[in-house]
Amino acid sequence: MQLTHHTARQATLVLGGTGKTGRRVVERLTARGLPVRVGSRSGEPPFDWEDRSTWAPALDGACSVYLSYYPDLAIPGAVEASASFAELAVASGVRRLVLLSGRGEPEAERAEQAVRDTGAALTILRSTWFMQNFSEDYMLEHVLSGEIRLPGGDVPTPFLDVEDIADVAVAALNDDRHAGQVYELTGPRSLTFADVAQEIGEAAGREIRYVPLSLEQHAVEAAEHGVPAEVIELLTYLFSEVVVDGRNAETTDGVRRALGREARDFGDYARDAAASGVWSSSAVTA
Ligand SMILES: NC(=O)c1ccc[n+]([C@@H]2O[C@H](COP(=O)([O-])OP(=O)(O)OC[C@H]3O[C@@H](n4cnc5c(N)ncnc54)[C@H](OP(=O)(O)O)[C@@H]3O)[C@@H](O)[C@H]2O)c1
Repeated sequence: MQLTHHTARQATLVLGGTGKTGRRVVERLTARGLPVRVGSRSGEPPFDWEDRSTWAPALDGACSVYLSYYPDLAIPGAVEASASFAELAVASGVRRLVLLSGRGEPEAERAEQAVRDTGAALTILRSTWFMQNFSEDYMLEHVLSGEIRLPGGDVPTPFLDVEDIADVAVAALNDDRHAGQVYELTGPRSLTFADVAQEIGEAAGREIRYVPLSLEQHAVEAAEHGVPAEVIELLTYLFSEVVVDGRNAETTDGVRRALGREARDFGDYARDAAASGVWSSSAVTA
């Protein structure tokens, strides 16, 4: 009984533990033999941002938390929800928090401050756009159709491999040296969407074009494809705030600072994603 309690006390709760970053954090902690709990609607017990009654059971016995909000810290209510959750976490005995934040989003920085105010040992992973959006999220459909039709202009973005986020998260969850740090995380090269189309096309062995759209055109096309209105609103916000003015085009040394090695390059990501078959013609479904 004592041992069970002790083991449970060591658990790390990984929010979004089946998603792009969380799944990889769970894999790494499990591989190290560390106790881990998936915090998502399909977790055991389930965790739902929309249902506060699920928060305390998910936190019960956890000593650290990987806090990844869904869908985005920029949506209305996200700052308040992540702040309330972090307060509850600290009140229920969590000592260490690792917060996945967004680079260049003022709301994300408000969330960072609110979570910092809880007094937990906090590491902030202020991340730019993920490479895996092209293979594990809505941009995959664009790639499979052969045309990346987005309002990304011709501004470069230093896309980040989520494998690097997971490595930094696990380091921060297990080593006090990272407490109090804010890591601005980017990949090692800034690429325009036209560069991305070319590199994915070369890796996947197929023709892929970037077609720059206006924000309005993109909203109309997304609606025609059945994308929900609130998601279109979020994408419009992200493209107009985070990408298009070039404020976030520069690379940073965050991965090197956190891990002592360089960030993964888009070319390596594209090679591995292509090898997984996710971009092959047979992945195109009716
Ligand atoms: N994508 C990017 O380029 C990017 C860049 C910087 C920062 N971020 C930040 O990364 C975070 C995650 O974004 P993502 O796009 O990578 O998503 P993701 O982690 O791939 O999202 C899916 C995860 O969220 C869970 N989930 C969905 N709805 C939920 C709910 N109502 N309550 C609890 N869990 C829920 C899902 O599990 P279940 O289905 O089991 O619930 C799954 O584990 C966001 O805060 C975003 O701001 C993203």
